[in-house]
Amino acid sequence: MNVMNNAHRPARNPVVLGIETSCDETGVGIVRGRRLLANTVRSSMDQHARFGGVIPEIASRAHLEAIIPTLHEALHTAGVTLEDVDAITVTAGPGLAGALMVGVSAAKALALATGKPLYGVNHLVAHVCVGLLEHQDVTTGRKLLNQDGKVLPGLGALLVSGGHTEILKVNDIAHDVQLLGATIDDAAGEAYDKVARLLGLGYPGGPAIDHAASDAAATMKFPQGLSHAKYMGSADHPGKHRYDFSFSGLKTAVARVVEAYEAANETVPVGQIAASFQESVVDVLSRKTVLAATENGINTLLLGGGVAANSRLRQVLAQRCAEYGVDLVVPPLALCTDNGAMVAALGAHLMGHGTAASPWGFTADPGLPVTAVSVGV
Ligand code: KG4
Ligand code: ZN
Repeated sequence: MNVMNNAHRPARNPVVLGIETSCDETGVGIVRGRRLLANTVRSSMDQHARFGGVIPEIASRAHLEAIIPTLHEALHTAGVTLEDVDAITVTAGPGLAGALMVGVSAAKALALATGKPLYGVNHLVAHVCVGLLEHQDVTTGRKLLNQDGKVLPGLGALLVSGGHTEILKVNDIAHDVQLLGATIDDAAGEAYDKVARLLGLGYPGGPAIDHAASDAAATMKFPQGLSHAKYMGSADHPGKHRYDFSFSGLKTAVARVVEAYEAANETVPVGQIAASFQESVVDVLSRKTVLAATENGINTLLLGGGVAANSRLRQVLAQRCAEYGVDLVVPPLALCTDNGAMVAALGAHLMGHGTAASPWGFTADPGLPVTAVSVGV
């Protein structure tokens, strides 16, 4: 392409449009500075339900069908036109390759047609930006940004969804985000979905297990991956996986228990298994996150991703954070799950920091590392 992407024009409160298509949600969000103007999301979740998990080809096709109506609706809700928009931002990765490509192509077409600067950004960092939107930080009473809109020291995040499980430390939202820990196999939400299938519960598995566990006792002891001393080490000599997670062994342990009941022709105690599984996930997530926070100077923790809806996780994480003096920020669920507003919010921060727009040639990057906040700069 021989057209140059527009140079960045600093604006105090830029109107930014964000596009998100990394998994099964087609999201278009619009912000003015830190103010949320629109957050329109269409989900293809129903189309994946009978498979028990997201099917990439179905997700890509659904994005194609949804992107234009979602864009129109977001502009209408925000009461702005494309002319009013100062920049277009799109999730460039990580995520499903085909799904990401739909958003990136749509964003390039929009930017080219309107002459607006385009930012390809990191999905995980975008999740954090939701907590920096106006009114999100007031819940803790602690300021998250200084006068210049820079992140104050001590911000961290736990992102838990069907696609990711990460503990992040945010030193500078525009170019310095550290990955402290992550899952080495299944994501937390993925573990919920797989275990729900083993227990004959519906998809998505998270809400189904949360519900089944609500009036049952967690009497069974299930493993907690990477919790052994050899992986944890100590604060002075941290083990390789001190802040990492693994959920595949837990899923196998549940499968064995279910098989044993079935082999003995006994009724599977679904509630009890769900509660015990959930206790194992919630305990390891909250324990390692608070450990990472206290050992890395994190005083404010943002919870993001679909698993943030989990009642037990919210309860236990809030307790542990309070115990260790960490403020917990849990945005409304519509902002925790994948959406375009978070992408737009990151775009507004990048403009505020004077970050250069991405070059036209950038492509979707399914494995984009969290250290790459925006691509091509
Ligand atoms: O962020 P999200 O909507 O989409 C992506 O995965 O990107 O997260 C969906 C995940 C699913 O795995 C779902 O089972 C899980 O979030 N989830 C829950 C709950 N509600 C949704 N997991 C545990 N407890 C819940 N209440
Ligand atoms: Zn996500």
